[in-house]
Amino acid sequence: MYLAKKTSIIEPGSLYERLGGHEVLTKIVEGMYYRIFNNPDSADFFRKTDKHMQIQRMVAFFTYSTGGADEWEGKSMKEVH
Ligand code: HEM
Repeated sequence: MYLAKKTSIIEPGSLYERLGGHEVLTKIVEGMYYRIFNNPDSADFFRKTDKHMQIQRMVAFFTYSTGGADEWEGKSMKEVH
């Protein structure tokens, strides 16, 4: 549900493409959440969170917001924060 659809339109020359697509974006997000989940200043916000799912959601969100997918099916940022 949260994964970007394989059939989605990828804008040519988009930031998504220039970053290196799904594989690179996943590595970036994994590295980011490794630090967030292990930092005492932020870890508590994600105490009950399914960490694997959170990484997938963020990859899907960044995919959408950098032009790699034409829709975001997750919650609104306002709602979730
Ligand atoms: C650029 C800044 C940020 C972006 C783009 C972002 C993005 C996201 C996304 C995509 C989700 C998942 C939405 C869904 O479930 O559909 C999420 C959930 C969440 N975010 Fe953020 N976020 C940001 C900053 C933060 C910060 C600064 C905090 C806390 C210090 C935070 C705490 C959370 C929490 C607690 C959840 C819910 C986790 C759960 O479902 O258990 N986020 N965020």
